[in-house]
Amino acid sequence: MAGLFFNVVIVCVFLVSLSPAASAAPQKTNLSKQQSCTGCHGEFSSVLPAKHPRVAGKDISACASCHAPDPQNKATAKPYSSKLHLSHVQPDAKLDCLACHTWKPGKAFGVKGAKKPLGTLPAEGMDQIRQIFASWASSKYLDAHHGKKNVTCSGCHERKLPESGDTVASDRCLACHGDIENLAKKTEPKDFPDRNPHKSHLGTIDCAVCHKAHQPSKAYCLDCHKNFNMKIRFSEGGASGTAK
Ligand code: HEC
Ligand code: HEC
Ligand code: HEC
Ligand code: HEC
Ligand code: HEC
Ligand code: HEC
Ligand code: HEC
Repeated sequence: MAGLFFNVVIVCVFLVSLSPAASAAPQKTNLSKQQSCTGCHGEFSSVLPAKHPRVAGKDISACASCHAPDPQNKATAKPYSSKLHLSHVQPDAKLDCLACHTWKPGKAFGVKGAKKPLGTLPAEGMDQIRQIFASWASSKYLDAHHGKKNVTCSGCHERKLPESGDTVASDRCLACHGDIENLAKKTEPKDFPDRNPHKSHLGTIDCAVCHKAHQPSKAYCLDCHKNFNMKIRFSEGGASGTAK
């Protein structure tokens, strides 16, 4: 069985490298679904950290035995998931999601070789997830700032497959950013201490009212107080950028 699979992979790689589509970009999806990891990387050791255990195999299922998805979706950084996605889902990346994932539209979306699916993904959800992944990997917004720090979707969303209309509760943000009192201390302006975005006459405001993740952030206070000198990072224009 293993030998048969091996041969099929070899034949696929062979066909792909002969077909004219291999040099022309548009057929990307078909091309990459069949592509094995070793087509680009030779051996895994060339892309794994120096102290990482040796891994044999040709595709992502070789990783699943040690890297099982975290069932609790804890608010922590996830370097394995982040690094794989950051390298392969940039807008110009050559590898399709389905090189690593299994998916039946409207049904399970999972990782090849993993026992349990990550969740259910409707047919119309895929485009949005793809777009948001590209944003998370490369935008000037808060999502990409977190991507660079290995915070993946579930780090914020508490579940693997966020849906249209989802947002993130402030408690989840504070699980990583400490309590709001501390935050308010850090952002108290010297000249006008009460012009504090984190402590105001409006009481507690959801983080996501100002800190958008996949679109420009916006200091809500300025809706009414046009005269405040209040800046927020990752806003329209992206001047304050993702670099740090
Ligand atoms: C179309 C080419 C291509 C294919 C196929 C491919 N990769 Fe990559 N991979 C890249 C590129 C480009 C990078 C980033 C540059 C580098 O480190 O070589 C990368 C980087 C990586 C890294 C290092 C990530 C980091 O930041 O430490 C790992 C691990 C990796 N790939 C695993 C895989 C696995 C597993 C597969 C098979 C599912 C795979 N790659 C298939 C192109 C590819
Ligand atoms: C024999 C067990 C094992 C297998 C198989 C395995 N890994 Fe790992 N991997 C580890 C351990 C242990 C760590 C370090 C602890 C952690 O971050 O989970 C790690 C960490 C990583 C990291 C994070 C490194 C960092 O910067 O923190 C990446 C990326 C990674 N592995 C990629 C892969 C890929 C890709 C595969 C499949 C080709 C794979 N691993 C297969 C055990 C394994
Ligand atoms: C190189 C392999 C690879 C590619 C390409 C890839 N993924 Fe993944 N993805 C994984 C692995 C492995 C996991 C499970 C990570 C874990 O166990 O934490 C994962 C997890 C996810 C999750 C759950 C996220 C979370 O925070 O836990 C989503 C959603 C996802 N992938 C969507 C996509 C989409 C959409 C694409 C294409 C734009 C894509 N992936 C491309 C390997 C890949
Ligand atoms: C830093 C925390 C954070 C991370 C990381 C993050 N999100 Fe979000 N996400 C949010 C917030 C906040 C909102 C609501 C406001 C907005 O749209 O920015 C949101 C909204 C969404 C929505 C609903 C959008 C809509 O218009 O209905 C989807 C779908 C989503 N996220 C998917 C993802 C995926 C997929 C990933 C991983 C690639 C991800 N998110 C990573 C914080 C995050
Ligand atoms: C899993 C942990 C985690 C979660 C959850 C999380 N963040 Fe972050 N966030 C980080 C890390 C790590 C950084 C980068 C280090 C830093 O700047 O503090 C960061 C950076 C930031 C920054 C830039 C800080 C600066 O110095 O300018 C803002 C703003 C931010 N996060 C807001 C949010 C909001 C709003 C949410 C909820 C929607 C959220 N974060 C959820 C870990 C997290
Ligand atoms: C009313 C709008 C608004 C709300 C709501 C808001 N913030 Fe902010 N946040 C800002 C602004 C504006 C800044 C930049 C202030 C500065 O640099 O002095 C900021 C800065 C930050 C920073 C960087 C602080 C630093 O060290 O410089 C973090 C982290 C942060 N916010 C997290 C959060 C979290 C978590 C929540 C929800 C509990 C939240 N914010 C709610 C407007 C807001
Ligand atoms: C929906 C409109 C609205 C929003 C949004 C709003 N305020 Fe106000 N604010 C007012 C009104 C009305 C007053 C009382 C009239 C005045 O003095 O301008 C006021 C007064 C103030 C004052 C005292 C007067 C001054 O101008 O110094 C401060 C400080 C202040 N707001 C801070 C904030 C901060 C910080 C935020 C964001 C977290 C915020 N406000 C959001 C409407 C708003």
